[in-house]
Amino acid sequence: MSTAIAHPNIALAKYWGKRDATLILPAAGSLSLTLDVFPTTTTVTVGEDDGDVVSLDGVQLSGDESGRVRTVLDRVRELSGRREHAHVTSVNTVPTAAGLASSAAAFAALATAAADAYGLEADDRMLSRIARRGSGSACRSIFAGLARWNAGDDDESSYAEPLRWSGAPLAMIVAVVSSGRKSVSSRDAMRRTAESSPYFPAWVESSSALLEQMSAAVAEADFTRIGQLTEQSALRMHASMFGAVPPVRYLTAASIALFDAVVTLRASGVEAYATADAGPNVKVLCRADDARNVVDGLTALMPNADYVVAHAGSGSRIVDGEAA
Ligand code: ADP
Ligand code: DP6
Ligand code: CO
Repeated sequence: MSTAIAHPNIALAKYWGKRDATLILPAAGSLSLTLDVFPTTTTVTVGEDDGDVVSLDGVQLSGDESGRVRTVLDRVRELSGRREHAHVTSVNTVPTAAGLASSAAAFAALATAAADAYGLEADDRMLSRIARRGSGSACRSIFAGLARWNAGDDDESSYAEPLRWSGAPLAMIVAVVSSGRKSVSSRDAMRRTAESSPYFPAWVESSSALLEQMSAAVAEADFTRIGQLTEQSALRMHASMFGAVPPVRYLTAASIALFDAVVTLRASGVEAYATADAGPNVKVLCRADDARNVVDGLTALMPNADYVVAHAGSGSRIVDGEAA
């Protein structure tokens, strides 16, 4: 039995679209910040004789939801040469399926716990590749802080790696406007965008270029440039969704109001940049020293959101002596 913990990560350069839906190879690379809030804890117990059984927050998963977990277990069994079934018990502290990266924390924790439970000697790169099979964004949550997912062109070459950051410490203010479940999963919305949005090819082409610019900005510790590219990436991703048939629209009036509030903050001299994922909640990137100012400024403009201050968090890891 092994237990692992992992945190959500928020992409600054977004992943949206797959070139291979089975291996989960992305259409383009991406770059993210792993957070120090909202951990997921997952316990894998090997050697059960009633098949793979998965529970999340005390409720047994079925259908596609347990299928995604089984995909990761199958990969670990294949690599370890073992065949026993497993019980998986997981507890999220982040709202599930609300655009707050629950799938990233979940599958990073699962890959880490399952590899350990099956006795697979896996380095972080292999864990990243295994986590990717459960949810693409999860390959980045294996690592602390900033991580870049290299798109690659096969299972072996598609993994995340940590990026060195020499700038002032970063913060991410998570503005929660709704913690309810999205009506369309990231997976389905991504597929629909790729299949039907006339903007999808332009999104893919521009996001490869943006990733290179952002990687350079990280190497130069150019916070302003990273922030500008972060907003660009988010808005372009949502634009590609707007073009889908039927449209995918996760942003609500409250989300847009938060993007406006961030523009207002910048005009008043506080450097902050907004991003949003597959859900209505908004995340605001700033320097850690400015986090209090940003929360106060946003609270004054948008009192109805809940604000959680996050910093760069640790990568996935095994925890001894406590089960989920
Ligand atoms: P999010 O924005 O939260 O990442 P997604 O649509 O990408 O939303 O993924 C949500 C799905 O991820 C859930 O419906 C469930 O299938 C899976 N998931 C989330 N947390 C867990 C967990 N701790 N264990 C197993 N599966 C999970
Ligand atoms: C908008 O990784 O959740 O958060 O690979 O189908 O599981 P699947 O999708 P997922 O998509 C995340 C999309 C995003 C952007 C990002 O995290 O890069
Ligand atoms: Co997700």
